[in-house]
Amino acid sequence: MMDEFAPDMIIEPLLVEKAVAGRRGYLFPALDVPAAPALDSRYARTGSARLPEASELDTVRHFSRLSTMAYGVDYGFYPLGSCTMKYNPKVNEEAASLDGFASVHPLQDEDTVQGSLALMYRTIEDLSELVGMKWGTLQGCAGAHGEYTGLKTIRTYFLHRNEMNRNKILIPVSAHGTNPASASMNGFEVVQVASDERGLVDIEDLKSKLDETVAGIMLTNPNTLGLFEKDIRKIASLVHEAGGLLYYDGANFNALMGMARPGDMGFDVVHLNLHKTFSTPHGGGGPGSGPVLVKEELVPYLPQPDIVFHKSTGRYAFKWNPKTSCGKVSGFWGNFLVIVRAYTYILCMGSDGLKAASQHAVLNANYMQAALRKVFPVAYDGLCKHEFVLTLEAMKEETGVSALDLAKGLVDMGIHPPTMYFPMIVHEALMFEPTESESKDTLDHACEAMKSLKETAYSDPEALHNAPCTAVITRVDEVRAAKSPVVRY
Ligand SMILES: Cc1ncc(COP(=O)(O)O)c(C=O)c1O
Repeated sequence: MMDEFAPDMIIEPLLVEKAVAGRRGYLFPALDVPAAPALDSRYARTGSARLPEASELDTVRHFSRLSTMAYGVDYGFYPLGSCTMKYNPKVNEEAASLDGFASVHPLQDEDTVQGSLALMYRTIEDLSELVGMKWGTLQGCAGAHGEYTGLKTIRTYFLHRNEMNRNKILIPVSAHGTNPASASMNGFEVVQVASDERGLVDIEDLKSKLDETVAGIMLTNPNTLGLFEKDIRKIASLVHEAGGLLYYDGANFNALMGMARPGDMGFDVVHLNLHKTFSTPHGGGGPGSGPVLVKEELVPYLPQPDIVFHKSTGRYAFKWNPKTSCGKVSGFWGNFLVIVRAYTYILCMGSDGLKAASQHAVLNANYMQAALRKVFPVAYDGLCKHEFVLTLEAMKEETGVSALDLAKGLVDMGIHPPTMYFPMIVHEALMFEPTESESKDTLDHACEAMKSLKETAYSDPEALHNAPCTAVITRVDEVRAAKSPVVRY
């Protein structure tokens, strides 16, 4: 048993493990009202509730200690590719904690939540403008949930056109794993499209897969290699000529805000990740938001209810449209406070600010790529957008030190590792996304760290096999953690 009082204690036991029988965090005053009737014995607990018995101070210290062990964007550099771990401005939190937003109840009468409805309406308007779509829904509660919602909208569109023969969705091999998952959850068959030697969609392969059974193609642009799909206009006309639609996975939109619009590229449906591009916190499974925006002809098939503004009365309202809508995809109206944070960000940045953010995100990625190109090969070299992918294959062959080992080494240097082993078409991949938030000093420090870890790989490979050594949790057995997770105490 560890010494709980040791000043250098770094492992924090669970609160139940620290419990002392009879210890209380709060003492209720004596009852000065008639006691409520006892619960029917069928519903009453028979044993102890097994709650941790701890004082208020024990509890405060427990959570304060835990908070110092967590790594987040407010703590240090977090270049997790494809995840856009940008700074979350604190003014967003202030807006989300305003009582009128934080205490609103989703079942409140519309007349009492006009401000919240206006905020949602204007967020849809602004997002639609940014991506070049007509209108949308805020019901999606994550990127993957947005994908599910967007594809459900597409499926309903074809259903109403009596084109249920269109049951295939084309997805490039480099795509994020949620894309095929969302397509099959909607009952589509997933057909892979190859990447060419540039890391872009292979046009010939695409052509060979287009026919009257194709409902559409799902693409992220820039793609998961951080490369802009230069042939997007050609891809759009090929898919449209074949009667299909184009779905834009907007998880990588941080590269394009104010610079280019998926709608102008030919996309018909877009989801955005507010918890990435629009600076709301994420990670650790926290609440996200994946709004879906569509072209005019798909608007009737969006989830219901819609939010409408009645000019004559100046009031906002929910509008239910059961005839054509694809249905409801979440309880209530989506993750409302995430939407408040994103709208605050949009207002604070303005259109020039959003554009500048994307420009800096792309500049930072290219700066880091140029420095790291001298250390490790870039998987598909050239100008990148907001992220880039290195391959550590040669180092692994020469030293036995893998991308995973090197990433763990970064933890010892106080840097959160980049994304590992993704996209799967690159061997020993490390994918960096520095975001616009970081200074040149931070980027230089991370590049130096990568350089010195490479030197260690060649001089003392064992040191990296055992990394991290300074973290609270050192090297874990990743296979056991994935195959036999202990998720219940
Ligand atoms: C390209 C891409 N698409 C979709 C998603 C899914 O988003 P979410 O994690 O919010 O479900 C991600 C998430 O990392 C992504 O990078």
